[in-house]
Amino acid sequence: HYNLNTNVIGNKIISYDSVDSTNQQAKKLALEGAGEGTVVIAEEQTAGKGRRGKNWVSPPKTGIWMSIILRPDIMPENASMLTLVAGLAVCKAIREITSLEASIKWPNDIVVSGKKICGLLTEMNSEIDYVNFVVVGIGINVNIEEFPPELDKMATSLMIEGNQIYKRKRIINKTLEIFEVYYKKYLETEDLTNIIAEYNECCINIGRNVKVTSRSQNLKGIVKEVTRKGELIITDPQGEDIEITSGEVSIRGI
Ligand code: BTN
Repeated sequence: HYNLNTNVIGNKIISYDSVDSTNQQAKKLALEGAGEGTVVIAEEQTAGKGRRGKNWVSPPKTGIWMSIILRPDIMPENASMLTLVAGLAVCKAIREITSLEASIKWPNDIVVSGKKICGLLTEMNSEIDYVNFVVVGIGINVNIEEFPPELDKMATSLMIEGNQIYKRKRIINKTLEIFEVYYKKYLETEDLTNIIAEYNECCINIGRNVKVTSRSQNLKGIVKEVTRKGELIITDPQGEDIEITSGEVSIRGI
């Protein structure tokens, strides 16, 4: 009943009224053998997961809480780029369907009016040189009317930004269709070579000042570009280019 225009992604869609977390459920199904492209969707998550152990508010019927199971024949170190592939797909889907000015905040967020409208959580099950499966979790705030005060400054929804109700299925379909196209292009080179121009066009960080905090470094600079390997290049105040990988960084300012 999704009328999807895809070959692989969403060839099987497993929906739930309520689950703890679609990523958790997808990992369980993947361990039981669920195939490439299987999508897990829930109306509500009771324990939605964000990055760094945060929880992800996932109220019933107002958002898209879904996870895509992938079994790409790639090296494990190249799997984190799938977050960027998915981010690009969500950004394009939102732009097409809502004409809101969505942008990617590298590496995990989609923002509208400077506030987060979508978060991505990619999890992998792998051996040293072999990927067993990847779960790409996508949370999109669609028809959420308001956020609790502590989130209000940071989070928004399509409804808040566009002043209308959006059909979640249309956004799901569009996202999965675009994701499939970009995913295939990614698999051709095992990196972002084929889509990096589009990625950079959608990335809000380019040309802006950022502060990057990670375990080993604390940097300030102006974002130059995202590379085809998915790293962020920042020009520091001394004019030196520094490469940042998406591992465990947090970026202040967009
Ligand atoms: C983040 O921005 O911190 C990532 C949020 C990811 C949320 C999505 S909702 C669907 C999937 N299932 C989860 O438990 N998390 C992801």
